[in-house]
Amino acid sequence: MPERAVKQASISFVGMPGSGKSTVGRHVAKHLGLPFIDTDHVIEQRIGCSIRDYFETQGEAAFRDVEQAVIDEITQLTGHVIATGGGAVLREANRQALQSCTTVIYLRSSPEDLGRRLRHDTHRPLLQGSADPVRRLRALFQDRDPLYRSAAHFVIETGRPSVHSLVNMVLMQLELAGVVPTANTLGGARP
Ligand code: S3P
Repeated sequence: MPERAVKQASISFVGMPGSGKSTVGRHVAKHLGLPFIDTDHVIEQRIGCSIRDYFETQGEAAFRDVEQAVIDEITQLTGHVIATGGGAVLREANRQALQSCTTVIYLRSSPEDLGRRLRHDTHRPLLQGSADPVRRLRALFQDRDPLYRSAAHFVIETGRPSVHSLVNMVLMQLELAGVVPTANTLGGARP
Protein backbone atom coordinates (compact mmCIF):
# COMPACT_ATOMS: atom_id res chain seq x y z
CA MET A 1 0.00 0.00 0.00
CA PRO A 2 1.48 3.44 -0.88
CA GLU A 3 2.59 5.43 2.14
CA ARG A 4 0.56 8.56 2.68
CA ALA A 5 2.51 11.70 3.62
CA VAL A 6 1.37 13.22 6.88
CA LYS A 7 0.59 16.86 6.24
CA GLN A 8 0.98 19.36 9.03
CA ALA A 9 -2.03 21.70 9.28
CA SER A 10 -1.20 25.35 8.85
CA ILE A 11 -0.99 27.67 11.84
CA SER A 12 -2.66 31.06 11.56
CA PHE A 13 -2.60 34.24 13.63
CA VAL A 14 -5.56 36.55 14.18
CA GLY A 15 -5.80 39.69 16.28
CA MET A 16 -6.04 43.44 16.23
CA PRO A 17 -3.72 45.60 14.13
CA GLY A 18 -0.44 45.97 16.01
CA SER A 19 -0.90 42.78 18.05
CA GLY A 20 2.25 41.24 16.52
CA LYS A 21 0.71 38.70 14.11
CA SER A 22 3.30 39.24 11.38
CA THR A 23 6.34 39.58 13.60
CA VAL A 24 5.49 36.65 15.86
CA GLY A 25 4.22 34.60 12.91
CA ARG A 26 7.47 35.09 11.00
CA HIS A 27 9.56 33.96 13.99
CA VAL A 28 7.35 30.95 14.69
CA ALA A 29 7.56 29.94 11.02
CA LYS A 30 11.35 30.25 11.08
CA HIS A 31 11.62 28.16 14.21
CA LEU A 32 9.37 25.44 12.85
CA GLY A 33 11.01 25.50 9.41
CA LEU A 34 7.68 26.32 7.74
CA PRO A 35 6.99 28.92 5.05
CA PHE A 36 5.41 32.17 6.24
CA ILE A 37 2.60 34.01 4.44
CA ASP A 38 1.20 37.43 5.33
CA THR A 39 -2.26 37.77 3.74
CA ASP A 40 -1.92 41.57 3.57
CA HIS A 41 1.18 41.16 1.39
CA VAL A 42 -0.59 38.71 -0.91
CA ILE A 43 -3.51 41.16 -1.16
CA GLU A 44 -1.18 44.06 -2.02
CA GLN A 45 0.49 41.99 -4.74
CA ARG A 46 -2.93 41.18 -6.14
CA ILE A 47 -4.39 44.70 -6.09
CA GLY A 48 -1.12 46.30 -7.23
CA CYS A 49 -1.17 49.12 -4.69
CA SER A 50 -1.10 49.67 -0.95
CA ILE A 51 -4.10 48.60 1.12
CA ARG A 52 -4.44 52.18 2.29
CA ASP A 53 -4.75 53.44 -1.33
CA TYR A 54 -7.18 50.64 -2.18
CA PHE A 55 -9.40 51.56 0.78
CA GLU A 56 -9.41 55.16 -0.44
CA THR A 57 -10.20 54.44 -4.07
CA GLN A 58 -12.33 51.26 -3.94
CA GLY A 59 -13.73 51.28 -0.40
CA GLU A 60 -13.60 48.79 2.43
CA ALA A 61 -16.14 46.31 0.99
CA ALA A 62 -14.03 45.82 -2.16
CA PHE A 63 -10.98 45.23 0.04
CA ARG A 64 -12.89 42.65 2.11
CA ASP A 65 -13.84 40.78 -1.09
CA VAL A 66 -10.19 40.46 -2.12
CA GLU A 67 -9.26 39.51 1.45
CA GLN A 68 -11.88 36.76 1.49
CA ALA A 69 -10.67 35.33 -1.84
CA VAL A 70 -7.06 35.33 -0.58
CA ILE A 71 -7.97 33.68 2.74
CA ASP A 72 -10.01 31.07 0.92
CA GLU A 73 -6.96 30.15 -1.22
CA ILE A 74 -4.35 30.32 1.49
CA THR A 75 -6.27 28.23 4.01
CA GLN A 76 -6.25 25.42 1.48
CA LEU A 77 -2.47 25.14 1.83
CA THR A 78 -0.99 22.88 4.48
CA GLY A 79 2.19 23.37 6.48
CA HIS A 80 2.30 27.17 6.41
CA VAL A 81 2.29 29.86 9.08
CA ILE A 82 -0.21 32.55 8.14
CA ALA A 83 -0.60 36.10 9.48
CA THR A 84 -4.03 37.57 8.70
CA GLY A 85 -5.17 41.20 8.65
CA GLY A 86 -6.93 42.53 11.73
CA GLY A 87 -10.33 42.55 10.02
CA ALA A 88 -10.12 39.04 8.57
CA VAL A 89 -12.49 37.68 11.22
CA LEU A 90 -15.27 40.10 10.26
CA ARG A 91 -16.63 37.70 7.66
CA GLU A 92 -18.12 34.42 8.75
CA ALA A 93 -16.63 32.65 5.69
CA ASN A 94 -13.12 33.67 6.78
CA ARG A 95 -13.65 32.56 10.37
CA GLN A 96 -14.95 29.22 9.11
CA ALA A 97 -12.06 28.69 6.68
CA LEU A 98 -9.43 29.63 9.26
CA GLN A 99 -10.96 27.51 12.00
CA SER A 100 -11.63 24.42 9.99
CA CYS A 101 -8.36 24.36 8.00
CA THR A 102 -5.75 25.82 10.37
CA THR A 103 -4.78 26.00 14.03
CA VAL A 104 -5.79 29.54 14.92
CA ILE A 105 -3.93 31.60 17.51
CA TYR A 106 -5.44 34.85 18.74
CA LEU A 107 -2.81 37.32 19.93
CA ARG A 108 -4.91 39.35 22.35
CA SER A 109 -3.77 42.84 23.30
CA SER A 110 -5.53 45.69 25.07
CA PRO A 111 -6.50 48.77 23.03
CA GLU A 112 -4.16 50.82 25.27
CA ASP A 113 -1.14 48.63 24.45
CA LEU A 114 -2.09 48.66 20.77
CA GLY A 115 -2.41 52.45 20.85
CA ARG A 116 1.11 52.72 22.24
CA ARG A 117 2.51 50.42 19.54
CA LEU A 118 0.64 52.11 16.70
CA ARG A 119 1.08 55.75 17.71
CA HIS A 120 3.32 56.51 14.71
CA ASP A 121 1.48 54.31 12.20
CA THR A 122 0.54 55.83 8.84
CA HIS A 123 -0.38 52.65 6.93
CA ARG A 124 -3.53 51.36 8.56
CA PRO A 125 -6.53 53.00 6.89
CA LEU A 126 -8.94 52.38 9.76
CA LEU A 127 -6.75 54.32 12.18
CA GLN A 128 -5.95 57.34 10.01
CA GLY A 129 -7.60 60.68 10.60
CA SER A 130 -8.85 59.76 14.05
CA ALA A 131 -8.31 62.44 16.67
CA ASP A 132 -8.35 59.76 19.36
CA PRO A 133 -6.82 56.50 18.03
CA VAL A 134 -7.14 54.66 21.37
CA ARG A 135 -10.86 55.37 21.41
CA ARG A 136 -11.09 54.01 17.84
CA LEU A 137 -9.09 50.94 18.89
CA ARG A 138 -11.42 50.42 21.88
CA ALA A 139 -14.46 50.44 19.59
CA LEU A 140 -12.81 48.01 17.13
CA PHE A 141 -11.72 45.77 20.00
CA GLN A 142 -15.22 45.68 21.45
CA ASP A 143 -16.68 44.55 18.12
CA ARG A 144 -13.93 42.15 17.24
CA ASP A 145 -12.76 40.50 20.44
CA PRO A 146 -15.70 38.02 20.41
CA LEU A 147 -15.01 37.25 16.74
CA TYR A 148 -11.32 36.58 17.31
CA ARG A 149 -12.25 34.36 20.24
CA SER A 150 -14.81 32.44 18.26
CA ALA A 151 -12.32 31.75 15.46
CA ALA A 152 -9.39 30.85 17.73
CA HIS A 153 -8.22 27.52 19.04
CA PHE A 154 -5.82 29.29 21.42
CA VAL A 155 -5.78 32.75 22.95
CA ILE A 156 -2.43 34.23 23.95
CA GLU A 157 -2.62 37.35 26.11
CA THR A 158 0.24 39.45 24.82
CA GLY A 159 0.48 42.07 27.61
CA ARG A 160 3.77 43.84 27.02
CA PRO A 161 6.41 41.09 26.79
CA SER A 162 9.21 40.97 24.23
CA VAL A 163 8.75 39.34 20.82
CA HIS A 164 11.10 36.62 22.05
CA SER A 165 8.87 35.67 24.98
CA LEU A 166 5.73 35.86 22.88
CA VAL A 167 7.22 33.50 20.33
CA ASN A 168 8.12 31.15 23.17
CA MET A 169 4.61 31.31 24.59
CA VAL A 170 3.13 30.43 21.21
CA LEU A 171 5.56 27.55 20.64
CA MET A 172 4.94 26.18 24.11
CA GLN A 173 1.19 26.31 23.61
CA LEU A 174 1.49 24.52 20.26
CA GLU A 175 3.78 21.89 21.77
CA LEU A 176 1.50 21.31 24.77
CA ALA A 177 -1.45 20.83 22.46
CA GLY A 178 0.54 18.40 20.33
CA VAL A 179 0.16 20.60 17.25
CA VAL A 180 3.93 20.70 16.70
CA PRO A 181 6.71 18.42 17.95
CA THR A 182 8.50 19.43 21.16
CA ALA A 183 11.64 21.59 20.96
CA ASN A 184 13.80 18.50 21.56
CA THR A 185 12.38 16.50 18.72
CA LEU A 186 12.86 19.51 16.44
CA GLY A 187 16.50 19.28 17.37
CA GLY A 188 16.86 22.81 18.63
CA ALA A 189 16.31 25.04 21.58
CA ARG A 190 13.53 27.55 21.38
CA PRO A 191 14.52 31.08 20.44
C1 S3P B 1 -7.25 45.93 8.92
C2 S3P B 1 -6.00 45.58 9.35
C3 S3P B 1 -4.82 45.56 8.46
C4 S3P B 1 -5.23 45.43 6.99
C5 S3P B 1 -6.28 46.43 6.65
C6 S3P B 1 -7.53 46.29 7.51
C7 S3P B 1 -8.37 45.94 9.89
O1 S3P B 1 -3.95 44.49 8.83
O2 S3P B 1 -5.69 44.14 6.69
O3 S3P B 1 -5.71 47.71 6.83
O4 S3P B 1 -9.54 45.95 9.48
O5 S3P B 1 -8.08 45.91 11.10
P1 S3P B 1 -3.06 44.49 10.19
O6 S3P B 1 -3.87 43.85 11.26
O7 S3P B 1 -1.87 43.67 9.82
O8 S3P B 1 -2.72 45.89 10.49
